[in-house]
Amino acid sequence: MLIPPPLSLYVHLPWCVRKCPYCDFNSHEQRGALPFDAYVDALLADLDQDLPLVWGRTVHSVFFGGGTPSLFPADAIDRLLQGASSRLRFAPGAEITLETNPGTAEHGRFEDYRRAGVNRISFGIQSFDDGCLHRLGRIHDSAQALAAIALAREAGFDNVNLDLMYALPGQTLAMAEDDIARAIALAPAHISHYQLTLEPNTVYAARPPQNLPDEDLAWDMQERCQARLAEAGYAQYEISAYARPGRQCAHNLNYWRFGDYLGIGAGAHGKLTLGSEQAIARRWKHKHPTAWLATAGTPASIGGDERIAEARRPFEYMLNALRLVEGFTLHDFEACTGLPPSAIAAPLQAAFDAGWLHDDGARIVPTALGHRFANDVVSLFLED
Ligand SMILES: C[S@@+](CC[C@H](N)C(=O)[O-])C[C@H]1O[C@@H](n2cnc3c(N)ncnc32)[C@H](O)[C@@H]1O
Ligand code: SF4
Repeated sequence: MLIPPPLSLYVHLPWCVRKCPYCDFNSHEQRGALPFDAYVDALLADLDQDLPLVWGRTVHSVFFGGGTPSLFPADAIDRLLQGASSRLRFAPGAEITLETNPGTAEHGRFEDYRRAGVNRISFGIQSFDDGCLHRLGRIHDSAQALAAIALAREAGFDNVNLDLMYALPGQTLAMAEDDIARAIALAPAHISHYQLTLEPNTVYAARPPQNLPDEDLAWDMQERCQARLAEAGYAQYEISAYARPGRQCAHNLNYWRFGDYLGIGAGAHGKLTLGSEQAIARRWKHKHPTAWLATAGTPASIGGDERIAEARRPFEYMLNALRLVEGFTLHDFEACTGLPPSAIAAPLQAAFDAGWLHDDGARIVPTALGHRFANDVVSLFLED
C-alpha cells in the first residue's frame, strides 16, 4: 500500500545574469528589469492550483532553485514564503535553501534573506581557480566567492553549501585537489562535488572545450577529492553530496528517498503520492518564463500531468534510492511504490549476483562497483 512520504516544496526562479555554456537547467539570460512582483504573484497562483493535491499535509523543506534565485530581492522571497506558509503547514525548523551565485551577492541582502526565513545558502562556486572560472564563463572570480561566503556568515548563516565542479577544461589532478582543499578550509556544512558533464543542447555540447580531462583522470579526481573530504569529516551520502554530521540536505534527501514534492514556477516538476487514489502523480509546468507567467494558476500553465504506471515505479524508485550511500529497505520500497518486494525479486538477485548491491541484513546498499556502474544497476529495474 502507498503511504504518502514527507512533502517538500520546490520553487523555480528561472533567470541568470548570463547563461553558462555548460548549463542545461531551465535558466534564461536576464534582459532588462525582472518582473519580481508579477513572478511572486504567479508562484502563489500556481501553488493555489496545486493545493488540492496536498490538502492537510506538512511541508518539511523548501528549495529556491534556478536559475539564480539570489537575483530576487529579499522582500520577494519574504512575500512568497509568507504566502506559502499561510496556505500550507510548515514543519517547525523546516530547511529553507536559497541558491546563490557569488556574482550576485550584494551587501545587506543576506540579513534580509535570513529575516525572510531562509536558513540555508547554497553557493555556486564551481572552482576557486580564476582561469577555470573564466573558461566556464562564470560571472564571478574567486575573490568574489570568498567575499560572498564571508557576508553570508556575518549575516548568521551557519548552514552553507558550496557547489564545486571537477573535470573542468584544463584542470589537472592537483588543481582539482586544490579546489577541494580550499573549500574544506572554509569549513562549510556541506559540499556538493559534481563532475562536469556535456549536456545536450548546450554551447559545450555543440563546441566541446579543449583540454577536457579524460574519464580515467576524472575518476582519479573523484577518488582523491572524496578521500580528502572524508579525512576532513565530510561523509559522502550521495554520489555528489558530502556533509558534516547532521548536515545532509533534507530537501535533496527527500528526492532521493522518493519523497513527494510540489514544484511551482516555470518548468518546475512535482511528484505526489495520492493516497486516496493509490496513485503516484507527476505534474510539470510550462518551461518558458513568459509563457508560464501569462498562464500561471490556470490549467494552461500545466505542461503535463501523468500517473507513474506500476510497472515503471521500481525503476523510478531505484533511479533515486541507489544514488544514496544508505541505499534502501524493502519496507521503504513497499511504502513508496505500493508494490510488494516480490515485484523486484529477480532484478535484485541479478544485482546481488553481479556484486553491485549488498544486503547487510538491515538495508540494501550499493557496493563500490555498484556506484561505478550505477546506470547498469538501475536499468535492471526497467520494465520489460
Ligand atoms: C542550478 S545550478 C544553481 C547555482 C547557480 N545557478 C550558480 O550556478 O551559481 C546548480 C549546480 O549544478 C551544477 N551544474 C550545473 N551544470 C552542470 C553540468 N553541466 N555538469 C555538472 N554540474 C553542473 C553547478 O555546480 C551548479 O552550481
Ligand atoms: S548561473 Fe547557474 S543556473 Fe545560471 S546558467 Fe550558470 S550554472 Fe546555469
